[in-house]
Amino acid sequence: MNTVPSQHQRVLSGMRPTGKLHLGHYHGVLKNWVQLQHEYSCFFFVADWHALTTEYDNTGIIAESVWDMVIDWLAAGVNPGSAKVFIQSQVPEHAELHLLLSMMTPLGWLERVPTYKDQQEKLKEKDLATYGFLGYPLLQSADILVYKAGLVPVGDDQVAHIELTREVARRFNHLYGREAGFEDKAEAAAKKMGKKNAKLYNELRRKYQEKGDDEALETARALLEGQQNITLSDRERLFGYLEGGGKIILPEPQPLLTKASKMPGLDGQKMSKSYGNTIGLREDPAEVEKKLRTMPTDPARVRKTDPGDPEKCPVWQLHQVYSNDEVKSWVQEGCRSAGIGCLDCKQPVIDQVIKEQAPMRERAEEFINNPNLVRKVINEGGEQAREVARSTLVEVRQSMGLEYR
Ligand code: TRP
Ligand code: SF4
Repeated sequence: MNTVPSQHQRVLSGMRPTGKLHLGHYHGVLKNWVQLQHEYSCFFFVADWHALTTEYDNTGIIAESVWDMVIDWLAAGVNPGSAKVFIQSQVPEHAELHLLLSMMTPLGWLERVPTYKDQQEKLKEKDLATYGFLGYPLLQSADILVYKAGLVPVGDDQVAHIELTREVARRFNHLYGREAGFEDKAEAAAKKMGKKNAKLYNELRRKYQEKGDDEALETARALLEGQQNITLSDRERLFGYLEGGGKIILPEPQPLLTKASKMPGLDGQKMSKSYGNTIGLREDPAEVEKKLRTMPTDPARVRKTDPGDPEKCPVWQLHQVYSNDEVKSWVQEGCRSAGIGCLDCKQPVIDQVIKEQAPMRERAEEFINNPNLVRKVINEGGEQAREVARSTLVEVRQSMGLEYR
């Protein structure tokens, strides 16, 4: 278990800068980030080192995409006043933790991560039999653990990476959480909560450890979460001691799965750069209109007088994202009876997409005209991120016995 106490929960997520963002990113990821930033302490970063694992021979695309991507985030409503927005390579602690973790991560754990083989298959034209690519998920683990993030919003394809992160954290805590005199220190820490609380803690701990009483575990956790006057270090000891392990230095994160809002692309498949079926997040309205007007429809509707079937039409999928019930029944009825033409049918979607993008284009304008503003956001976010990352590394080095440096 060893999860993060909820009141301290941080949310962390990253995106690789490998091209312009599209509406699939907006509906699948960014809308969710914008929501989360009001509920948690959020860290959102540009995973430029991760991009290097596949673009090491084409680094230009990274440099080109970084700033555009940050502007896309800001345009979508990510608010640097509440979320920390930064670039991975500006926080070298990610790399240091990655290196330290690599020393204790069995090779088999990385070879078994499904994306390792899948991506090599999928990107056949690239040589991904590299050290860096094998380490991709471990670098991701470092990204997460360096902030002790409790929740990581990701898609299904990334759940295995969070699972790896949990295993790595567990192994780390097992290896290095057993400081000298751990038990004595934990018991002293319990006393610092006051007589009554210490007694309760010890009782609950016994119940959990002797009888496997999960309810006692939960109660004890809640008790610890409620303690305002103990140090971070003592809190980690007490969490670890509760479960019979050592000090919990790197807590295990949980994936936060976004309700699979699969944004359909212009051809009915999932919107994705590799399918060439995207609408850019801030694409020019005239271009959006052109793309939608020329997108395919039910192939059986050759002439306007041929009745169609929305189920066989990618435009219908877009109506499901963008239209209300009234418009949707107008489509169903008009399509099946050949009462409306396909261009008529597309118009409400065109209008809605352009309307959705309007505030994003507007917000982006300010940043496009003033690149220093974007740099300022990134510099400040990096500053805040480094502060947290540095303090984790101090603790990590200490627990590994590396404080001689
Ligand atoms: N691997 C993620 C992706 O391809 C990007 C990423 C890198 C990430 N580090 C992360 C996501 C840490 C969440 C947390 O989408
Ligand atoms: Fe598709 Fe609409 Fe044309 Fe029917 S009328 S085929 S739903 S675009």
